[in-house]
Amino acid sequence: MYTPRIRELIKKVEETRPQRVGIPFPRMSPEEKKEVLKECYPDYKENEFKKLRLGPNKGEKVPVELANIIESKSRLQNLDMDLKKVDYDVDVLVIGGGGAGASAALQAHEKGANVLLVTKLRFGDANTIMAEGGIQAADKENDSPEIHYLDVLGGGHFTNKKELVHALVKDAPNVIKWLNDLGVMFDKEKDGTMITTHGGGTSRKRMHAAADYTGAEIMRVLRDEVLNRGIEVIEFSPAVELLLDTEGKVGGAVLFNLETEEYLIARAKTVIIATGGSGRLHYQGFPTSNHYGATADGLVMGYKAGAEFIFADAIQYHPTGVAYPPQIFGALVTEKVRSLGATPLNIHGEQFVYHLETRDVESSAIIRECTIKNNGIESPSGMVGVWLDTPLIEILHGEGTIEKRLPAMLRMYLKFGIDIRKEPILVYPTLHYQNGGLLIDEYGRTNVENLYVAGEASGGIHGRNRLMGNSLLDILVFGRRAGNHAAEQCKNVTVKQLTLEHVKKHHKELDILGVEGDNMSPMLLPHYTHGREEDN
Ligand code: FUM
Repeated sequence: MYTPRIRELIKKVEETRPQRVGIPFPRMSPEEKKEVLKECYPDYKENEFKKLRLGPNKGEKVPVELANIIESKSRLQNLDMDLKKVDYDVDVLVIGGGGAGASAALQAHEKGANVLLVTKLRFGDANTIMAEGGIQAADKENDSPEIHYLDVLGGGHFTNKKELVHALVKDAPNVIKWLNDLGVMFDKEKDGTMITTHGGGTSRKRMHAAADYTGAEIMRVLRDEVLNRGIEVIEFSPAVELLLDTEGKVGGAVLFNLETEEYLIARAKTVIIATGGSGRLHYQGFPTSNHYGATADGLVMGYKAGAEFIFADAIQYHPTGVAYPPQIFGALVTEKVRSLGATPLNIHGEQFVYHLETRDVESSAIIRECTIKNNGIESPSGMVGVWLDTPLIEILHGEGTIEKRLPAMLRMYLKFGIDIRKEPILVYPTLHYQNGGLLIDEYGRTNVENLYVAGEASGGIHGRNRLMGNSLLDILVFGRRAGNHAAEQCKNVTVKQLTLEHVKKHHKELDILGVEGDNMSPMLLPHYTHGREEDN
């Protein structure tokens, strides 16, 4: 429920609305984009980054919070483990129970591999299930994988690994067909044609969606498929270190049963890290749209085992996180809201940025409006944000559009007495995604033999900035590719004696650097005593 002061401010939005309908706001020039990014994008704040002092990317900068957990002790530091006592022995070990893990497991199983999927929380507790707006694929007549390719490169400021973008856009139409055949209920016209919309930075309407709960719908189907096929899934058992063999190849992982607090050994011929992102590290104190398990576990384990990072300093702040009400602070307001025509406005009811710039540019413009220009709106809880004029959607597309296309968003706000069909909402950027991660090739392989990565823990596909809808796509494209390749690869692998030598080496390096304290990683679950990690 808005306060009388906020209702008074909303009058300005209502006053300017008739002049704004149907009048497109000009896009920024490349120079203007560069300027606003430099001025306001959080990645440009030098003092929020730290150079890594050890590992394959030594000397390169990453967010302070990530550097701190990399320079932490292993959870196994005081454990003398008998690595010969193997609890699980499989062909393919998949670590992570989101969309990337599920699709990797399905594909590896399809190829005849003996697959074990382990996950930290419940199967499906992941960023996939929280994804709202949609999944890109060039499968309409006016579009092509080539046009999609150019959009992805443009969004990533041409820093992307081109062979990964090629794989992404080439497999995309087939992934949509695969999902549709499995039973994902995409939005369709009466004649069965898929409904597609724009996202920020797309030159064609290629966003396929299931209303505004696309990820939940995809995860529902993938999870059922994994369970129906009888693939073994162990919940509440995160991996806490990878195991290498005496030849330095990956050979499994140490698991930690969160309920019994036992450590277990899973030996595997190939391992696929699909542990997702790092939003719960709350870089620079930002709130996040991520699920509770997004604590960079895969990045830390992979890096310690020798896998290289790419763009680990490139973080995505989604332009529209909830700024009010405080109970859902930082939650995602899907980009689909802007795709359907809602525009960002300042305290005077004026639009200040084209509504579908790429995410980094859109976020920077919002931050500039609220900070440097001082044109933000202070919410009753003290958080400053800008308006997102949601009632415009019903004016542009007709009454009932929000109920039909954004039902989850509508309900989320109605719980707090705000009807987004009639009143605008207050938004501010929220920490949403890590653009980089562990470098992979087009089969999901890392530089460590037999170690694969799929999904948000991987890096290179999106360059330094991902476009909307290419994450739900990449988890499936590269999940399936990694699953396929890992299953083939196991046919030629014999795991030698397992070791944790790389963890011992890590501790020695920490000693030499003089790292003290009891911080342990992977973090597994976020700390919410108060404020940022270093304050706790
Ligand atoms: O805005 C969104 O719905 C988010 C989509 C994405 O990150 O791809």
